[in-house]
Amino acid sequence: MSRNSMGQRLVLSSFGEANGHLIGAMLDGCPAGLELSEADIQPMLDRRRPGQSIVHTQRKEGDVVKIVTGTYRGRTTGAPITMITDNQDTPSTHYELLRAYLRPGHADYTAMVKYGRFNDTRGGGRFSGRLTATYVMAGAIARKLLRVSLGIETCSYVQQVGTTAMTAAAAGDSAPAVYDDDAIYSNDVRCPDPATAAAMRNVLLDTKRKADTVGGVVQSVTTGVPVGLGEPIFGSLESDLSSAMFSIPSVKGVEFGSGFAGSELYGSENNDEFAFADGHDGDGDGDGYLPRIVTRTNNSGGILGGISNGMPITMRVAFKPVPSLLKEQPTVNVDTMSESPLLIKGRFDPCAVPRAPPIVDSMVSLVIADHALVSGHMGPVLRDEG
Ligand SMILES: Cc1cc2nc3c(=O)[nH]c(=O)nc-3n(C[C@H](O)[C@H](O)[C@H](O)COP(=O)(O)O)c2cc1C
Repeated sequence: MSRNSMGQRLVLSSFGEANGHLIGAMLDGCPAGLELSEADIQPMLDRRRPGQSIVHTQRKEGDVVKIVTGTYRGRTTGAPITMITDNQDTPSTHYELLRAYLRPGHADYTAMVKYGRFNDTRGGGRFSGRLTATYVMAGAIARKLLRVSLGIETCSYVQQVGTTAMTAAAAGDSAPAVYDDDAIYSNDVRCPDPATAAAMRNVLLDTKRKADTVGGVVQSVTTGVPVGLGEPIFGSLESDLSSAMFSIPSVKGVEFGSGFAGSELYGSENNDEFAFADGHDGDGDGDGYLPRIVTRTNNSGGILGGISNGMPITMRVAFKPVPSLLKEQPTVNVDTMSESPLLIKGRFDPCAVPRAPPIVDSMVSLVIADHALVSGHMGPVLRDEG
């Protein structure tokens, strides 16, 4: 068995294999009336696309998205939206070797056992980072939907590569800074702090020279989220966001707000004090509405009890180093049933992290839009849009 769909009301189904004919996404449950064309999706896909710079894999994919169902007269209709893109640069010869050799750190062994060697191993099949293009197709729609209907904005950027990180001050402390896309995508590392970006780039070039790979961390910040998204207990916002993050290949850690560092603090240090927004010192006008409540810090990462509290949702997502590297690695050959070294040939990312911000934005947007539909913050028709 496998599960290739996520979401309750806004359901993404991902299909295709890395070196098959095509890959695609079907997004079901998107409200009707959203103005939508390929131009809303392509820029985000382009930011994920390989082959753009020396620090990315040299696999060249056009990644030109085509919407084949679900829109009429330039707007969503409420029907499933299907999107596809062809696979272009797919020489599978290198991958023949990988039918026998299990790449350390990759999914070859577990997939072989689970699917009885029937799984498509070309280019990593369903386990390739390429499949994240299908997340971005749907995620770009969810991101637009959130922006136009609820004013919610997501931003994700590379905060760390190996041990080189934006400083706490540059990254913000319990409240990491929000950057616009222009700042994040001003360089090929996708770190909005120019000095740190330059240092990260050197780490990546050095790693590439050593025929090795390196991991890193993506910081995600989502603003404008209303209070009340999340379905405790098992549908908490943290549960669903983490589940979506762990569906991104290579993700091995997720933390919200102060995260692991918070576990080293006293409660008096980690608690976020409540206050009335704009210094409002109480309601008192008898209209029955609460004045807006905020917290002075954001160690909770915008989520309390699994429910959004109206503060920015802040999350750090840790990526392990890419498993395929151009150095000989000891492993096993399951054809000859012998332990023998593997030298992988092919084109790989020295680091997947610079390609990850649009993927993280996509998954965050899909989860938050799904919860907004579940909780009734978003309806089945966008009446006011455009
Ligand atoms: C954008 C992106 C690109 C990736 N590129 C590669 C790659 O070139 N080579 C590779 O071995 N793994 C790559 N990966 C990671 C593997 O797909 C992943 O490590 C593998 O499926 C095993 O899954 P796991 O690391 O989550 O356990 C990439 C991941 C992402 C998100």
